Amino acid sequence: MEDKIREVARLIANAKKVVVFVGAGLSTESGIPDFRSPGGVWDKYDPADFDFHNFLTRESSREKYWQMATEMYEAMRDAKPNAGHLAIAELERLGKLDCLITQNIDGLHFKAGNSETRVFELHGTAMHVACLDCHRRYERDPIQERIAAGDRAPRCDSCGGPLKPATISFGQSMPERETAEAFRRSAECDLFIVIGSSLVVYPAAQMPVEAKRSGAKLVIINRDATPCDKIANVILNGPAGQIMESILQKVKEERV
Ligand code: APR
Repeated sequence: MEDKIREVARLIANAKKVVVFVGAGLSTESGIPDFRSPGGVWDKYDPADFDFHNFLTRESSREKYWQMATEMYEAMRDAKPNAGHLAIAELERLGKLDCLITQNIDGLHFKAGNSETRVFELHGTAMHVACLDCHRRYERDPIQERIAAGDRAPRCDSCGGPLKPATISFGQSMPERETAEAFRRSAECDLFIVIGSSLVVYPAAQMPVEAKRSGAKLVIINRDATPCDKIANVILNGPAGQIMESILQKVKEERV
């Protein structure tokens, strides 16, 4: 592992454009469960209950969705960025981060110090709520207060439309600008680092493939194997926080 840590640090030091791509595995060390590990979100809830079409068509689905989303939000609201988030924020401070493509909705990259302009939230964010009709945005906490006061499926103050956390559910279209820009950056970088993702959900999982196809080196830091391992230049299987902390230590040593 030590020699791989040194190899990745050298790749970062020599790279002109580093793209970091993360999934829920980056946030498990902050106490937020991922989706597909044992005990993850999909062990607890049925993905079908998060389906966007159901949310749109049935009040009962909206109520069930808000009950589950409230439970998940409570784990995120007070979560702290861990060593992995802090290392990625450090990369930006060192001027070595072209952009961060995240599938996570927990807002921890901003708490860690990454700037909004460098982060693409492919699956939206749980920190805001949006009206599905007029697209008015709300802070999440005031809407949670309405839920706590008994409003089981809140509606928009402006137009009466259904409110939903500003996350992307199965069946809901991805944010066009963020997705297009993330694909463009993936194809233009010379180093693509995946951290804490099973790489099974598309179109996000296509990005490391595009990067590799465009000539970038591909590094995968993940506890378990992924379908992209066969095209990776370096694979580090283990805890993201500890591995990223060691890599940044080496990057800073190389720079002095
Ligand atoms: N360190 C390193 N890797 C970890 C850690 C950790 N501490 N904890 C978990 N992992 C790895 C797991 O081995 C797993 O391969 O992170 C990966 C998490 O995979 P998923 O749970 O599938 O999460 P993700 O890849 O982000 O899922 C993508 O699926 O359900 C949708 O919208 C949801 O954005 C999510 C998308």
